[in-house]
Amino acid sequence: MIKKIDHIAIAVRDLDEEIKKYRDILGLDFLGTEVVEDQKVKAAFFCVGDVKIELTAPTADDSTIAKFLSKRGSGIHHIAFEVDDVESKISDFIKKDVRMIDREPKTGAEGARIAFAHPKNFSGVLFELKEITKP
Ligand code: CO
Repeated sequence: MIKKIDHIAIAVRDLDEEIKKYRDILGLDFLGTEVVEDQKVKAAFFCVGDVKIELTAPTADDSTIAKFLSKRGSGIHHIAFEVDDVESKISDFIKKDVRMIDREPKTGAEGARIAFAHPKNFSGVLFELKEITKP
């Protein structure tokens, strides 16, 4: 079950520069940064109500975000849905002929279990499924 939008991720080149804009111009609540080794990115999180905006910058040239930036430039990268059970949502999507980038969950920011569906399925929009793991 899809519960809510957890975050909107925006691919950026210069994280520190963008943090200043989101914090000082937009005035959003800055929650901090996290390096996500698995994704080869460093992310900065902001709060807008109960939705987060995640600025994401590559930490390596072979990061998918680095590839996205060189192909499409900076901009909205994905929308993440919070789900109660990522594995059951993956199998549900596969049953409905959705092409998955991840057929097995991987580890995202805050240790969440995540999987991406191919943007081809949804008008070019990359959707992340995110199951929040309780510490
Ligand atoms: Co995300």
